[in-house]
Amino acid sequence: MSGTSADGIDVALVRVDPKRKSAGSHGRENRVTARRGSHFLAAEIRFELLGHIHFAYPKSVRTAVLTAMNASHASVADLARLNFLLAELYAEAILAAQSKFRVRPQLVGCHGQTLYHQGEAESFLGRKIAVTWQTGEGAVIARRVGVPVVSDFRPADMAARGKGAPLVPFLDFRLYRDMRIGRIVQNIGGIANLTAIPANARAEQVVAFDTGPGNMVIDAVTERLFGHSFDRDGRIAATGSVIPEVVENILRQSFFRKPPPKTAGREEFGRDFVRLFLQRCRRSAKADVVATATALTARTITDAIRRFVMKRGTGYRELIVSGGGASNPTLLAMLANELSPLGLSLRFSDEFGFPSAAKEAAAFALLAYQTWNRRPSNVPSATGAKHPVILGKISYV
Ligand SMILES: Nc1ncnc2c1ncn2[C@@H]1O[C@H](COP(=O)(O)OP(=O)(O)O)[C@@H](O)[C@H]1O
Ligand SMILES: [Mg+2]
Repeated sequence: MSGTSADGIDVALVRVDPKRKSAGSHGRENRVTARRGSHFLAAEIRFELLGHIHFAYPKSVRTAVLTAMNASHASVADLARLNFLLAELYAEAILAAQSKFRVRPQLVGCHGQTLYHQGEAESFLGRKIAVTWQTGEGAVIARRVGVPVVSDFRPADMAARGKGAPLVPFLDFRLYRDMRIGRIVQNIGGIANLTAIPANARAEQVVAFDTGPGNMVIDAVTERLFGHSFDRDGRIAATGSVIPEVVENILRQSFFRKPPPKTAGREEFGRDFVRLFLQRCRRSAKADVVATATALTARTITDAIRRFVMKRGTGYRELIVSGGGASNPTLLAMLANELSPLGLSLRFSDEFGFPSAAKEAAAFALLAYQTWNRRPSNVPSATGAKHPVILGKISYV
């Protein structure tokens, strides 16, 4: 997995097994039963995280990825090169994970790097179309690693009129569903997205959508004002004061008022958004700007929960955080503050056996497994797709 933060590659090694009865010796095992006749597979899957590593992109690669994401004009040759170059990096990351954990994978699921995502149809050459583009050539990864690769997961959902995102609810539903309490699973990557699972939910009751910026705006202002690629441990934000008017003002933007399903990316919260954000914060101390960007993430998450998730009878009690933002204590403190009036307590993905940084990568292992078995894995209530569909494309060895 490599997300919109463009920080690098997360590799998760996951054992997926439909039959085994006994638990493995390491990692955490989750027993999953899906219902026959629903759009999920009619079989039991067990999955277990065996290991996880993060590889930071080399600085030049990160710059190239960010440049491509933000470009209004780009070189076709460079984009083609990036597709093959990223594939080499993905393959190296997988091979390194394989030797570190001494596990030879049989199948790879690779999300790729999103260069452009527009979940909402817009006019182009006389037609309205929604589009997405993840890069990182599956054929190259398959050849280097020597196993089949499932890649390019999002287009099939969009072809079925879905927004192509979020896809992680497939895992979230299986991992966090509880009989007695409702849970909100909040990933804080570049973008923040949530999966809300009511108590004793059926898959069709799952609500999932992007709430807005996760670390993307924090990273961008920290880079601009302090020259660091992110605000490590939220230390800068901790020394600043939030400018409440800026946060309130941004919350009135149409994205936040729009009901789900909805998706966001650098198209919404990238360079242009950050330019306006910095203008709104001008004349404030630099640390206040980082604190305000951090508060914006916390506020937009809780605002989305209040507007679109909290309904009577769903029994929401917990918010489970994952993603890089779960390592930012200043952000978490702000979030916890906002959550307590909603009766939600803060928990961590790590407590459920899936470390914050591993969860999204693990989700794509599970999605690949589904595809390999010709089974659907989009969650139509999350993406807005008309049908369950089999996601991805397979590159054979
Ligand atoms: N120790 C930390 N302190 C603060 N922020 C962190 C820390 N570790 C990671 N992050 C944030 O998490 C981001 C990466 O999160 P990730 O979940 O990988 O996002 P994505 O899926 O978009 O790549 C980094 O860009 C950074 O902003
Ligand atoms: Mg990342």
